[in-house]
Amino acid sequence: MATPALALEGVGVNRADIPVVHDVSLDAAPGAVTVILGANGAGKTTLMDGIAGLAPVKSGTIRLGDRSIEKLAPYKRARAGLGYVEQARTTFRTLTVEQNLLVAQQGEGDLGTVYKLFPELDKRRTLQAGYLSGGEQQMVVLGRALVSAPKVVLIDEMSLGLAPLVVRRLMTTVGELAGMGIAVVLIEQFANLALDVGTRAYVLRKGGVVYSGPCADLRGDEERLHRLYFGGPPLTAADRDAGAAESEQ
Ligand SMILES: Nc1ncnc2c1ncn2[C@@H]1O[C@H](COP(=O)(O)OP(=O)(O)OP(=O)(O)O)[C@@H](O)[C@H]1O
Ligand SMILES: [Mg+2]
Repeated sequence: MATPALALEGVGVNRADIPVVHDVSLDAAPGAVTVILGANGAGKTTLMDGIAGLAPVKSGTIRLGDRSIEKLAPYKRARAGLGYVEQARTTFRTLTVEQNLLVAQQGEGDLGTVYKLFPELDKRRTLQAGYLSGGEQQMVVLGRALVSAPKVVLIDEMSLGLAPLVVRRLMTTVGELAGMGIAVVLIEQFANLALDVGTRAYVLRKGGVVYSGPCADLRGDEERLHRLYFGGPPLTAADRDAGAAESEQ
């Protein structure tokens, strides 16, 4: 793999003094989407908060390019080239689309790239963000992480509450970000959509990595994903039939 844009080694992150993430080692390559999967509560957001500096990193190292960032304040990590699309983050509803993007800008930003990625926003620059559709609001949230031309972008569940068609559209943009050379780290509840756009995947369970390997090896393999998410034996044929019967009701 090319030199990783983001490299974690043995990272532990606490939440309210409780260790939640332990001993995570992970690489994200430039120009690729690295997918992080795991059940609710597995520690995905805690890990992202640790990388971004919003939760304390208790052990290990985090390198952004050739810099160690694990001790830097969040704004310094952002300046060093880290963008973060936080889970459940929303727009400033009474500000216009353009104002939303401008407040995120640090020094030299580039709104042109954002408008090119999202022509929907280009047409609505002067509209208050509160009037946008859910998908367009998520574009603003994504756009805010991009105006400072980051080298690495962490995206935590951007699909929450959005229609599948909109999610697919946003996934296309995620692929375009990688095409621009950005290292994208993508957390996604729709595992197969993420595995389609991603190169390498990591699965977290109880705060630790239980899988690290090609996305292709997990794509479409519901049984394996289930076992990785929850542990224990794989689903049996009877489990599957029961699931099918439930979904038919
Ligand atoms: N502020 C907090 N104080 C105490 N415990 C917390 C806090 N935030 C999260 N936790 C706990 O840390 C664990 C991991 O939570 P985290 O939000 O990182 O999981 P996640 O994988 O992002 O889940 P989800 O898929 O639901 O977003 C959970 O057990 C959660 O209850
Ligand atoms: Mg989360």
